[in-house]
Amino acid sequence: MISAKMQKALNKHLNEELFSSYLYLSMAAYFESKNLNGFANWMKLQSKEEYFHGLKFYDFLHQVGGRVTLSQISAPKTDWKNIKEVFTETLEHEKHITDLINKLVDLAILEKNHATNNFLQWFVNEQVEEVATAEDLVNKLEMIGDNKNGLFMLDRELGTRTAE
Ligand code: FEO
Repeated sequence: MISAKMQKALNKHLNEELFSSYLYLSMAAYFESKNLNGFANWMKLQSKEEYFHGLKFYDFLHQVGGRVTLSQISAPKTDWKNIKEVFTETLEHEKHITDLINKLVDLAILEKNHATNNFLQWFVNEQVEEVATAEDLVNKLEMIGDNKNGLFMLDRELGTRTAE
C-alpha cells in the first residue's frame, strides 16, 4: 500500500513522463519539417521511451494497490531556433526530470516506503544515462557548429538508432 501523498506524487510524475514523450515527439516533428530525418528518428524513439517510462509508473501504482488518475498534458513547444537549441532544451528537461525523481526518492525515504524507493532506483540510474546522452549530443553539436558536413554525419548517425 502507498500513502495518499505518495499516490498523488507518483500520478503527477506519470504526467511528467507523458509530457516528456509529447515534448520529444514535438521535437521530432520539428526535425521532420526540416528534413532532418536522422534527428527525427532519434527523437521519435526518445518519445516512445518516455511513454514507456510513464507506463512503468502506471503499472507500479496498480501493483501497490494505488489508483491511476490521468490529468491534462501540457502543450509542448513546437518551434526552435536550431538543432542545438533543441538538444540544449532536451538536456535541461532531463535535468529537471532528474530533480523530480530525486524528490520522489526523498519522499519514499521519508515515508520509509522501501518498495517505492526500490522502484524509483531504476529511474535514478536511467536519469544518469539520459543526462549523459543529452550532454554528449550538445557537446557534439558545439564542436560541429555550422559545419554542414558534420551535421549531415550526425544526422546519419542518429538515424541508425533503433528501439531497445
Ligand atoms: Fe523518462 Fe527522459 O526521463
